[in-house]
Amino acid sequence: MKVTINDFLKKKQEGRKITMLTAYDYPFAQIVDEADIDAILVGDSLAMVVQGLENTLPVTMDEMIYHTKMVSRGVKNAMVIGDMPYLSYHLSIDDAVRNAGRFIKEAGAHAVKIEGSREVAEKVEAMTKAEIPVMAHIGLTPQAIHRMGGYKVQGRTEEAAKRLVEDAKILQDAGAFSLILEAIPAGLAAQITKDLSIPTIGIGAGPHCDGQVLVIHDVLGLFERFVPKFVKRYANLKDDALKAIKQYKEEVEKGLFPGKEHSF
Ligand code: KIV
Repeated sequence: MKVTINDFLKKKQEGRKITMLTAYDYPFAQIVDEADIDAILVGDSLAMVVQGLENTLPVTMDEMIYHTKMVSRGVKNAMVIGDMPYLSYHLSIDDAVRNAGRFIKEAGAHAVKIEGSREVAEKVEAMTKAEIPVMAHIGLTPQAIHRMGGYKVQGRTEEAAKRLVEDAKILQDAGAFSLILEAIPAGLAAQITKDLSIPTIGIGAGPHCDGQVLVIHDVLGLFERFVPKFVKRYANLKDDALKAIKQYKEEVEKGLFPGKEHSF
């Protein structure tokens, strides 16, 4: 059954955890969907883990649409969420709605995600009014890496924590159907989760959020440049792939492949 924003809300109300992973193409979307994960985020993290870029800032709307289309083709049940890339919503409300609408209209997404605190509330409201479900994202917001001075845990001071609590409420009131909390202390995430009627999805925000999200390349051991403390690696596909490719090379060089069974 297709996962909808109503299912997100229901899971929170019933105390059942929401599961979410990123995916950026058809084969991985198929696997994540088959595993019954609730939602797939086509994250702008693809800039780093797929495109090999230094950070998420350069990825474009057209590239996000291209990847979201591939993911949508691979999914039967999971909710597909397109991630609004840097500068696709910063300049105006019109821009925000038009670009969010592209994820829905062109790429088959069911919702969009937007980074930012109270400053993006008007945009969240406008997108929601345009019938686009919006997942907000506060705490460590990687598009703000230069302002934040690096990938640092947020909300550590009393003042910063208070501001995040307020931001969460403002974004909920603006119409967000859920909220990502990235890299904030577990106690603060627990408080925000308790305060809100919409579900929170944590990444580096402890165990008390209504759901969890991770980058699939981190989960499967496909991205090695750096591994944040909050990542748990459940497989090491890089090693498996390397082993398989080395064996293929050896068998070709020794004339062992193709065998009779692979020949006509
Ligand atoms: O881009 C992304 O993958 C994200 C998640 C890490 C939340 O924003």
